Amino acid sequence: MQTLTSIKALQNTIKQQRLAGRKIGFVPTMGNLHQGHLSLVAKAKELSDFVVTSIFVNPLQFGAGEDLDNYPRTLYADSKQLEAQGNDIVFVPSVAEMYPRGMTTQTQVSVPQLSETLCGASRPGHFDGVTTVVTKLFNMVQPDIAVFGEKDFQQLSIIRKMVDDLCMPIDIIGVPTGRAADGLALSSRNGYLTAEERPIAPELNKTIQACKEAILSGSTDFADLEASANKRLEAAGFKPDYFAIRDSSTLAEVTEQTKEIAILAAARLGATRLIDNTRLAPP
Ligand code: PAJ
Repeated sequence: MQTLTSIKALQNTIKQQRLAGRKIGFVPTMGNLHQGHLSLVAKAKELSDFVVTSIFVNPLQFGAGEDLDNYPRTLYADSKQLEAQGNDIVFVPSVAEMYPRGMTTQTQVSVPQLSETLCGASRPGHFDGVTTVVTKLFNMVQPDIAVFGEKDFQQLSIIRKMVDDLCMPIDIIGVPTGRAADGLALSSRNGYLTAEERPIAPELNKTIQACKEAILSGSTDFADLEASANKRLEAAGFKPDYFAIRDSSTLAEVTEQTKEIAILAAARLGATRLIDNTRLAPP
């Protein structure tokens, strides 16, 4: 496995692979890799011939007071895991390599509407930072396929919309959420949880699953389901950002036309912000 830090070296190396007829797969990450990330790399390997993973903690998607400075950076362990997974290139650019002219004057890519709701409402500008960096990375790597996790369901929806709207010739592949044995969605941010908080954290997934069961058994008062889910989370010690039952394709309210429902939630447990979701066909 090669570790590359410059865009030029990355582009030269990938160009040779493309000229040799290889299909390029790409997995963008912010590092501190866990089994969830590695399942994306495995999927990319399955669907392509040459896999590029990026590790870049993107300042543009962090808001003031968020965890940019504390975000776990574990490049040595990450590289070992990627190598064992058969990853071909790990691209680890510096902030200066990605944003040589600074970030305030950076051209931005924005997907309105989908980016303003749910996580976008409590993290203004977050998704513009994501779509901007992912566009830059897509232009550098020019992959045939790119793999994203369903754990960040809103992010995946926004990337799909961006690729469609901007006619980017890239297949976007979604991979199911990797979970700990107790159901907690794996996340780099789980490392922030204290020993007291960790056993409480799976309650987020349990609350989402209970809501799903209620809908499948015929409950139709979504506002009431959302309110009781928020109460349940508060009782467990969370500060919920949102608990929302939405149309999975528009992330807007469920309508008669809804083909698939998504239940999405974000909540703070102490200093840690956790997110999770599930989907179901309307009964
Ligand atoms: P990061 O949080 O590192 O996640 C990288 C990819 O791994 C994303 O596609 C995310 O959805 C996926 N992922 C994280 N936890 C997962 C889990 N438990 N199961 C399956 N997939 C999981 O998301 C980002 O980084 C950034 O916003 C990025 C897209 C790299 C842009 O900076």
